[in-house]
Formats: sequence, structure tokens, C-alpha cells
Amino acid sequence: MLIDTHTHLFDERFRKDLPAVLERAVAAGVERVICLGIDLESSRAAVAIANAYPLVVAAVGIQPNHAAEAQAGDWDAVVKLAESEQRVVAIGETGLDRYWDRSPFPVQEDYFQRHIQLARSLRKPFVIHCRDAEADVVKTLRAAMPSNEPGASATGLRAVMHSFSGDIGTARECLEMGLHMSFAGMVTYPTAQNLRDVAKEVPLDRLLVETDCPYLAPQPVRGKRNEPAYVAHTAVLLAQVKGVSVAEIEEHTTRNARTLFGL
Ligand code: NI
Repeated sequence: MLIDTHTHLFDERFRKDLPAVLERAVAAGVERVICLGIDLESSRAAVAIANAYPLVVAAVGIQPNHAAEAQAGDWDAVVKLAESEQRVVAIGETGLDRYWDRSPFPVQEDYFQRHIQLARSLRKPFVIHCRDAEADVVKTLRAAMPSNEPGASATGLRAVMHSFSGDIGTARECLEMGLHMSFAGMVTYPTAQNLRDVAKEVPLDRLLVETDCPYLAPQPVRGKRNEPAYVAHTAVLLAQVKGVSVAEIEEHTTRNARTLFGL
């Protein structure tokens, strides 16, 4: 069994056939799908999908590229969802993004902090989007380590670097802070040898898989609309990279996801 730890099932590309998409996921061995909001509206939609389909659970948050367009009251509404909705298992997605540059960086940093604090106060994990901002993300996470809190036991952060695309140095720093590392379809692309080298170094007990659908479908379905069933292709590739069986990848990534997200 597999858990697709990062999807955007509220995307309009799933509007016509979501039940069929989820049936194919089950047929492909997917036991759970996490649907993450990127703003208030999609966070509400993620919760609604999770309430409608037992296969799906939700995460709520305002993604860095949507931070600037958030209206007054949006954040409070996200907090309310996180506090009151039973099927919200994580906070996010959040993080930092210097690639798209759609939100001023200080606004992104402010929202990143809010998500981290919310996750801590609700004792939920958080989900990190990082694009061309590895040093900034590592700096923020270091400052957020529970070991910085007076009287806290020095455990690591309960969080995941989603669709990781950074270098080995960043990966090592994240692993050292206790983070999980999730790989999406990108790791299967012929040109992504660097990423496969990083994946090879991630211990099996920190590894997660995701599709990030509807974006970036893995080989050999690249170019199609991505969907949770395709997470199996990424698992097969990771098995090759790690030199273990597909069953071992399934066993570890599923156990990791269940533990991290309390599933
Ligand atoms: Ni995403």
C-alpha cells in the first residue's frame, strides 16, 4: 500500500471525474491521499473533499505564492478550519519561494512563521514548499527547532520537505533537524540524476512519496494530468535508486506517513 502525501484534488482538472480518479488510486494500491490547500478557498475545498471521501484527508494553509493575495480574515479562517475540522491532519502547504516571486519575501516569511506556530500549538505536522529558497527555509527551521524552547525536550521538527528539489547539503541539514523528505514525479525524469543522488542518501525511515497532482506526472505518464494512482511509478523508481524492493519502499513510506500525519 502507498500514501500519496501531497495532492491538490480541488483543482478544476479533477472536477469532472474525481470519484474515478480515487477508484484508480485504490486499484493502484493507494490507501490514503492527503489534499493540501494553497489558500482559504482551496483549504475549504480540501476539507470538503476529505469529508466526502474516506480515502482523503486534508491539510490547510496559505501557500507562499498566494500569501500576498490573502484577504484580511483569511488566515483566521484557516486557523479555524485547522482547529475544528476532524479530517485536517497537517498545516500547509507553507514555505518560501524565490522562483515565482509572486508574494513579497517578507510577507512569505510572515506566513511561514504563522504556519509553524499554528502547527506547534495544534501539535500537527507542517508541509514545506521550497523553491530557490533553501538557505532561507533552513534558517527559519533552525530558529523553529523545539530545542530552542526553554524546557522543551530536544526533539526534531515534525514536518516534511515536499517535492524536494534541493541539493544534498540542504537535504542533510533537513534530515538533521528531523524532517521527512518527500519525492514527487520530478525524481523520475531522465535529467534529474542530481535528485536521484539525493534520494539515495535519504534514510528509508524519513522517505515519503507524493504526486503533487495535477502537476508534473512521473515517467512513464509524464505530460498527462497527474493523479494519485501514479505515485506507484515514483515508488518503483525510488526502489531502484535505493536498491531495495518496491515492497520495502511501500512499507517504509506508508509507515512514515502514518506516523508523521497520525493516520
Ligand atoms: Ni503543492
